[in-house]
Amino acid sequence: MKKTENRDLLSKFSFATLASQNPVKKGERFNMRNGKSLNLGWWFKDDFKPEYISTTDYSGFEKVNVPHTVKEVPYDCFDQTLTCAISTYIKLINLKKLKNQRAIIEFEGVSAAFDLYINEIKVGSHKGAYSIARFDITNYVDAGSNKVMLIVDSNEREDIPPNGATVDYLLYGGIYRDVTLYITGNTYIEQTMFKYDLNEQIAAVSPELFYVSYQNEYTGQVKVKISGRNGYSHEYIKDITLEKGEHQIVLAPESIPAIECWDLADPNMYDVNVSLWESNVQMDEQEFKVGFRNLKWDVQGIYINGKKVKIIGLNRHQSYPYVGYAMGKRAQEKDAEILKRELGVNTVRCAHYMQSKYFLDKCDELGLLVFEEIPGWGHIGEESFKEVVKNDLDNMVINHFNHPSIVIWGTRLNESSDDDELYMYTHNRCKELDPTRPTSGARWHIGSNLIEDIYSYNDYTPREQGEFLLQEPRAVTKTEADVPYLLSEFVGALLPTRPGDDEMHQEEFALYHAGLMNKVIRNDQYLGAIAWCMCDYNTHNDHNSSTKICSHGVLDMFRVPKWASYMYRSQKNPSEEIVMQPCFMGGRGERSEPVPFFVFTNCEYIDVTLSTDITRRYYPSIKFANLVHPPIEVKENGEFWQDRWRGATIIGYIGGKEAARCTYSDNPRLDQMEAKADNDFLSNENVEETRIVCTFMDENGNRLLYHNNVVEVKTEGEIELIGPSYISVMGGTAAFWVKTKATGTRGNAKVVLKTNRKELGTKTIEIILV
Ligand code: GAL
Repeated sequence: MKKTENRDLLSKFSFATLASQNPVKKGERFNMRNGKSLNLGWWFKDDFKPEYISTTDYSGFEKVNVPHTVKEVPYDCFDQTLTCAISTYIKLINLKKLKNQRAIIEFEGVSAAFDLYINEIKVGSHKGAYSIARFDITNYVDAGSNKVMLIVDSNEREDIPPNGATVDYLLYGGIYRDVTLYITGNTYIEQTMFKYDLNEQIAAVSPELFYVSYQNEYTGQVKVKISGRNGYSHEYIKDITLEKGEHQIVLAPESIPAIECWDLADPNMYDVNVSLWESNVQMDEQEFKVGFRNLKWDVQGIYINGKKVKIIGLNRHQSYPYVGYAMGKRAQEKDAEILKRELGVNTVRCAHYMQSKYFLDKCDELGLLVFEEIPGWGHIGEESFKEVVKNDLDNMVINHFNHPSIVIWGTRLNESSDDDELYMYTHNRCKELDPTRPTSGARWHIGSNLIEDIYSYNDYTPREQGEFLLQEPRAVTKTEADVPYLLSEFVGALLPTRPGDDEMHQEEFALYHAGLMNKVIRNDQYLGAIAWCMCDYNTHNDHNSSTKICSHGVLDMFRVPKWASYMYRSQKNPSEEIVMQPCFMGGRGERSEPVPFFVFTNCEYIDVTLSTDITRRYYPSIKFANLVHPPIEVKENGEFWQDRWRGATIIGYIGGKEAARCTYSDNPRLDQMEAKADNDFLSNENVEETRIVCTFMDENGNRLLYHNNVVEVKTEGEIELIGPSYISVMGGTAAFWVKTKATGTRGNAKVVLKTNRKELGTKTIEIILV
């Protein structure tokens, strides 16, 4: 057994010592990428004692699956230190005897630091809640049962970004992303950066292989196979000689013809298989997806395949109610779908750290651009902190390089002060690894030194006399010439808005987004604008909330829309979805004056009948004329207060025809609870989750924003509820997630819903487990 500590591979890509050469037997195939999931069946304890290292008695431990959080938190108003702890995870894994093979264990995300022990011996440690950690555990394992143990530190440690000062989010804690075991040959690919130059439809590809070899000299071949839609396939072989140790090699260029590019409208992806061969023995193979696109930028824009794309986006935190970061594939994918399909934005900023592979894969698949950044928030710590920053940078760029959706690397810590030495390093290192993408980093202060390609600014200039205001780019950058300038955050703290806030408040929040987007959208001084933010999120008391929920999202924590989200959604082409959301509850007396109010819509005009028989027609507001579909302002409308209230009708028209209608009755009642699951099918082979949203509506289908109710949730079958079983209705909805128990059993599971209003009865949702 090797007793020296082994640092994780990508945190400088070096082993302490390498094992001696082992000859390879013909006919054996080793595969780095088709790893075995180690997500299921961990023993967990929310403390650590030295005797756990040698214990074989797990009676005091709880059996858990990954993704896992060290402690579930209540919805709001909880102790923000609840998840700060040292805890222990143990898993017994069975291995066959390794024959000239290597065993590599990979942790995609553990918050925030851990020590890894195998069979009671310390293998290494890792710092950073958002970076991938890989360890070669070959010298620590035997044939048969092996004890894998993690001591996880989820305290807010000063030496690990973003902590060290105040932070506007929580890091929770635990093994919250996938754990995978790979068995490879004695020479294997650690990661491939699939580099290429694109000229029209021809890609000159020159993949860069990060490899590890335990052989003194490796002379063999790399096979690269690229497959795409309509039966596209191109395969080639290059001879290679690899040195012993951990190194990189760039394969000689190969021309790949007839490439169909990846872009926002047609995000065409290819499957790549890279395999290492030596004398007809396959030593390793890696499979991943790529998309070919040309990316350029200048002071006026970002261009994908020569076409300018105005960035319109939202910032996303990866947290969820109760379980924090511990949400898997389905929930991650759903967020990307919400952004692109539901809200219709073209960009997401991964605020403020590297996000899940499932989220990024979905962004690739959907054609949603990504600004991904290294972890940090307003603070730069000591040397040990900076070491983690540097490792994070390598980890982000090397591991996420192949995602075509990523178009900006954030090489500074969000809103931190200038530290030219550090940021010259991160910028230069990023360029060395990836010269094809621009670098950036969000600032809150003006006149910051521009080291990166794009000056990103979080602009929180308050309104003055009703005017929506932004700083002039040159006034912010203090540069002599214009530089590429991106609005990386806006609105957010200017108007926190909770799901159940009144209609005037919800409307003003929506108008804030409209007002600032309106200033940017046709202004070439901005590459675009990314609003703060997609969803509400848990935070510390000293930042943005007294309830531990920062309510700056256009969606709530359950990803349920606030009216502000309709500002984005209504910009979609009506062929995608016809949108009409009045900022109006249909009752008299909800505001001091019933009009004006705005309707967010992509209809060309609306006819409004409010109470009386008088119908008036309204057109898109010139106050927001730059938007593709400005909201429509409903102004004076007859003798509103004089007559008896007889309800209201709003009809939206496209091409002279009725396209949307909202009807408000003179006596609206709670009429229905619609309950919808995001997914009808879930895998029970591993943990998969789906969200269920209950919407409370009146007899005309209007969501009852102020309705008061409680939903009782029960599950039947091999699924369990995430969070409490009594959920209060907020903003007219109650939402929650359920997850499979990963028992492998197939069949149907049920979610049974009851409320405190008998007339709604009981509702059952069936989920098919596959
Ligand atoms: C910004 C910060 C974001 C968020 C936002 C709230 O300063 O970058 O992370 O805290 O404020 O408005």
